[in-house]
Amino acid sequence: MTELLSLSRAARLAGVTRAEIQKRIRHGEMQTFEGQVAIGDLLRVYPSVSLEKSDDFERVEQIKANALPQHQDEETRLPSQQVLITRIKALAEALVQRVARVEALEQLLDETRARLDALACGTGGQSGTGDQGGTDSAPAVPSEEVLRDLGAWLQTRRTALAENPVEAAQTQLLAKDSFLRIMSASVQMIPSGHEFFVDGNESILEAAVRSGLRLGYGCASGNCGECKARLVTGEVYRLREHDYVLSEREKQMGYLLTCSHTAVTDLQLEAAEAHSPDDLPEQEIQAQIRKLEPQSGGLMLLHVQTPRTNTLRFMAGQRARLALAQGLQRELPIASCPCNGRNLLFAVRQDDDAFSRAVFETVKPRQPVTLTGPYGDFVLAEDATEPAVFIALEDGIAPIKSLIEHAVSIDSIEAFHLYWSVLPLRMHDHQPWCRALRETLDNFAFTPLVDAACDDLLALLESDLEALPGNRYYVAGPSHAVKAVVSALLEAGVPQARIASEEFLG
Ligand code: FES
Repeated sequence: MTELLSLSRAARLAGVTRAEIQKRIRHGEMQTFEGQVAIGDLLRVYPSVSLEKSDDFERVEQIKANALPQHQDEETRLPSQQVLITRIKALAEALVQRVARVEALEQLLDETRARLDALACGTGGQSGTGDQGGTDSAPAVPSEEVLRDLGAWLQTRRTALAENPVEAAQTQLLAKDSFLRIMSASVQMIPSGHEFFVDGNESILEAAVRSGLRLGYGCASGNCGECKARLVTGEVYRLREHDYVLSEREKQMGYLLTCSHTAVTDLQLEAAEAHSPDDLPEQEIQAQIRKLEPQSGGLMLLHVQTPRTNTLRFMAGQRARLALAQGLQRELPIASCPCNGRNLLFAVRQDDDAFSRAVFETVKPRQPVTLTGPYGDFVLAEDATEPAVFIALEDGIAPIKSLIEHAVSIDSIEAFHLYWSVLPLRMHDHQPWCRALRETLDNFAFTPLVDAACDDLLALLESDLEALPGNRYYVAGPSHAVKAVVSALLEAGVPQARIASEEFLG
């Protein structure tokens, strides 16, 4: 069986990140064929890929827990989800085993046919007539010994095909792939080539946003038409009726609303994506404070929630302006991932200004807040694959956190390193978040620092990293500290184009 898999699908099957597969390809351990990898290569590099021992299945178990069957017909009641999932797994395995067996037997038939042809031509064994010349005399009759040899060969080949461990591994991998294809479908975007998976019963738009893609959308509920995309290949299913009316011509061309459809099969979808901050419109959203979380060292984490039908489209690392009901406002970095535009996180430092005092003293959960934005161009270079070094100086951790979470969700960066320096009296408030990332990701390193001087930081970078100019740097924090680090990096030979920075007053 010669099967090719997209990088995203291969990563999913092997239980590793897409960046890890890309790294193996760059190091020559795997080959790509038009952007895809062969199953044989995947099994060679990850021989322990198994159908049963996979995190994917646990994940899928979660998905199916949320995936209530829709439009269930009285007369065709579905079995319970657990029963259904068990049957699908069994069917996927059985199907792939049958296909593998048919292919193996076809191969054996071809080989047998070739042997018989050779015998008929007198080149595959001794003739019982003694005539080897292939003249116009009677056809050569194989000797009994030749026929016995052929029978023994056939038996050996059949046993070998049945027991071939590579075939068995391939079968297992394909069974897993078949199962995952039932539970989730992949969507490839045109022209960008970005790929993401639609899990369970989520809409194409929800899956794209969760995966860090920036498709156009507005209401997320079928009213505005801004999520329109053209279906190039594949089959979709409408999740809900929508008020927005597509013209007949649009329908004929394959246009659909991504917020109102899910993927039935793997899809190719043509749609515009935002690639830079300039591609995103300024939005004003009436949101509310969901939660206030006081931290040590005079920091308040402010959780803001937008309406479900009006979420904020932004790029990781950008800012938004918060206007409180008290008439106070401030522009703050968004400390959460754009993959969840509904639940936004901001960090407010306690100080003497009116906005800070209001947040620490009078603001309450469920209070309305007007959100305007996004602003700023401190964003991730998404196509860059070189190791990314994030340097957070004090409260610069907020936009850095957003960048890192987005980088994790799009899974394209080979390695991350976070250096986070705080003042002596301030704790590393996000330490649990950093530790969780370090434990989850093989390619993430975290170095907590206390009031690190610029020279010390540079010395640390030089000892940790192979060569400073080979990395990409994201530096955020108080203006004077950021300026010092950036000029030290430039002096160390890092090209300006590889440094992005965000400065706050302070
Ligand atoms: S986002 Fe408004 S119709 Fe889909």
